[in-house]
Amino acid sequence: MSSFTGKTVVVLGATGVVGSGICRAFLDQGAFVVAVSRNAGRFDDLSKTLALKASDGFATAVGDFKDEASTGLAMAGIDRALAGRAIDHVISSQGFVKFGPPPTQSTSAQLNDALADGLTINFNAAKALLPGIKQRAATFTMVSGGLAHIPPPDPAMWMGTIKNAAVNAFTLGLAAETARDVVRVNTLCIHFGIAPIGGKQNQFGLPAERDSLGLAPAFLAIARGKQKGHVLCLNSWADVDALAKS
Ligand SMILES: NC(=O)c1ccc[n+]([C@@H]2O[C@H](COP(=O)([O-])OP(=O)(O)OC[C@H]3O[C@@H](n4cnc5c(N)ncnc54)[C@H](OP(=O)(O)O)[C@@H]3O)[C@@H](O)[C@H]2O)c1
Repeated sequence: MSSFTGKTVVVLGATGVVGSGICRAFLDQGAFVVAVSRNAGRFDDLSKTLALKASDGFATAVGDFKDEASTGLAMAGIDRALAGRAIDHVISSQGFVKFGPPPTQSTSAQLNDALADGLTINFNAAKALLPGIKQRAATFTMVSGGLAHIPPPDPAMWMGTIKNAAVNAFTLGLAAETARDVVRVNTLCIHFGIAPIGGKQNQFGLPAERDSLGLAPAFLAIARGKQKGHVLCLNSWADVDALAKS
């Protein structure tokens, strides 16, 4: 029996490269996983990707955290999927990176879209899910990327830099709010490419050393660890292994 047996984990962005690996990681530990997607049509593929077993505790919820109204609907769906279970861990791996013209050629609408698909969805998710777990030995973990810290290798990726930096900064805001609460808020900022489960390349077609199942030790370590209010940068797979041992 693992320390996650009987625990309940809500995964936002569950159909994604990172999110699907997170789902499988917690299922393998005996947790009950609620996978959230904006599109019910994606759950069949996710079930295949996860190679779901009869013994897996798994439920799905359709939800979009883009604005207040859709967040309310998403929460109703998550509550149905929880069927009375209390949430132990929330992992938000929603959104990816928007590409666009270099900064001075982009429109403010493009910038707002990039923030909507990174910062706003995490903001709405935190507003909806965090208050209910503040006084539990629970975690709320977001996912961002190393573009936050570097000049983008291609100017078309500058909005990814903004989005990831915004998620990292938002972590600090939530950390301040929850400093005296029991819940632990953190963000994993991943600085390298990750392949989808069973794959060998990331979304940019670049070879990836491991697939998203390889990130399992990092997410499990945060969920069972003591980290609170941190943006934890993973510079390499060696950092994943180190976090697992921390
Ligand atoms: N993959 C990598 O190599 C890599 C490396 C470093 C960091 N990261 C970070 O990891 C996080 C997740 O990346 P990923 O590779 O898993 O991305 P992904 O494969 O595109 O998955 C993200 C998921 O988020 C969901 N989503 C919900 N709201 C969204 C919105 N408004 N816009 C776009 N997607 C939305 C989508 O699921 P539905 O359509 O089903 O709702 C999508 O499957 C990101 O923060 C990314 O920067 C990824």
